[in-house]
Amino acid sequence: MKRRTIIGIIIVAAISLVGVIITQLFWVDNAFKLKEEQFSSSTRIALKSVVNQLMDSKNDPSFSYINEDRVICFHEPRTMFDIVDGSVLDSLIQKEFSCLKINKDYVYGVFHSEHKRFVMGPFKGYETELKKTPFIVSLSCLCKSDPYLLGVYFPFQRSMIIHQIIIWLFLSILFILFLITAFVFSIWSLFRQKKLSQMKSDFVNNMTHEFKTPISTISLASEMLLKSAVNESSEKTKRYAHIIFDENIRLKNQVEQVLNIAVLDKGDFKFKRKELDVHRILTEALESFQLIIKERAGKISRHFDASEYILFADKLHLTNSINNLIDNANKYSPGSPEITVSTKNVNGGILISIEDEGIGISVDNQKHIFKKLFRVPTGNIHNVKGFGLGLYYVKTVVEAHDGTINLKSELNKGSRFEIYFPLNLKDSKTLKNEKE
Ligand SMILES: Nc1ncnc2c1ncn2[C@@H]1O[C@H](COP(=O)(O)OP(=O)(O)OP(=O)(O)O)[C@@H](O)[C@H]1O
Ligand SMILES: [Mg+2]
Repeated sequence: MKRRTIIGIIIVAAISLVGVIITQLFWVDNAFKLKEEQFSSSTRIALKSVVNQLMDSKNDPSFSYINEDRVICFHEPRTMFDIVDGSVLDSLIQKEFSCLKINKDYVYGVFHSEHKRFVMGPFKGYETELKKTPFIVSLSCLCKSDPYLLGVYFPFQRSMIIHQIIIWLFLSILFILFLITAFVFSIWSLFRQKKLSQMKSDFVNNMTHEFKTPISTISLASEMLLKSAVNESSEKTKRYAHIIFDENIRLKNQVEQVLNIAVLDKGDFKFKRKELDVHRILTEALESFQLIIKERAGKISRHFDASEYILFADKLHLTNSINNLIDNANKYSPGSPEITVSTKNVNGGILISIEDEGIGISVDNQKHIFKKLFRVPTGNIHNVKGFGLGLYYVKTVVEAHDGTINLKSELNKGSRFEIYFPLNLKDSKTLKNEKE
């Protein structure tokens, strides 16, 4: 997929996501307001019902019930306290509010509409709120001479309403979080897939290129052999046969490297473990590189300080791994390579380190260096050939031997790869394939 298409998809998906979130927030806000209105009207109805019942309870012919919304008193009564009994008022309010499922989260007070003096109710500490509350009914119908008001205040009104819609609020937040997670994950996997496919196509390009060189050399040499003039000279025949042989080995090694990874990936590889002299393996590996390093006017130093160096391991895979690391140290050292190979015993194991003074690896790339097919991006210029499989292979082999691999590197200064193997492997239960 093209980068522009991906960015387009991300933008559309992000806009839709923001749209869904905004719509959801709008609906939650609407639901809250609706509940608030519902609460207000129920409370007002409850208060009116209280006043109606107070009037009825007086059982006085001078009081009459006019309609649902208005209560009027015709005759002058006595004082407020003669008309309204505090405990009756309290039980009436309690009864009405319990119908609204409000049991104790309210305060009320009866106060004079002009001089604002409170005369009844559990109003202590809430006088200011009660004077300003929207839930006020007039008691003037009960006592015309003294215009009193009954106010109710809900200190937890907001949380009471939120409590009613909490399940919807919770579900909305949960689904929004799911949506955001799915969105982020999709984008992450989209980029991952893109990177992976880029790496795979780089790998195929590299492989074709790497295979093409020996194939064309072989075809050229065999073509020369076929020419009769060459056949007459045994010296030339030998030379061309050598070229074919060498190139064939190179080809075989490359195919083997790719196949090794395929086998390791499938997980059905068998290690043939035996006791190995690590120093000897290192010496052999160094010898095979000696010529190449010399040709490049480089130097390999060795510091074998380990006193215990017998390791129970697979010879072929251990040798391949060490070769890979020395090969990298050589490949990624421009000019004359300076390579140091050393060993020492630490924590009951052996630590092998391969150090170079080459191009080094940036901190960002160090995180990916052991991933399959990863090569440090160098734009389109790849003057050093490779498949990006070497370090992945080394790590897999080292870990299969219960070991660890570490990298210390600084850009333009050099790199140091350290592999550590515990030496008591023979007792370890991880020797799954020992017998193969
Ligand atoms: N010693 C080193 N110094 C600098 N960069 C290194 C070193 N070793 C590895 N790298 C970087 O890590 C990348 C991965 O290394 P790896 O050995 O896995 O693959 P490769 O060398 O590119 O190919 P191959 O599969 O042939 O080994 C390399 O492409 C290179 O960019
Ligand atoms: Mg390599």
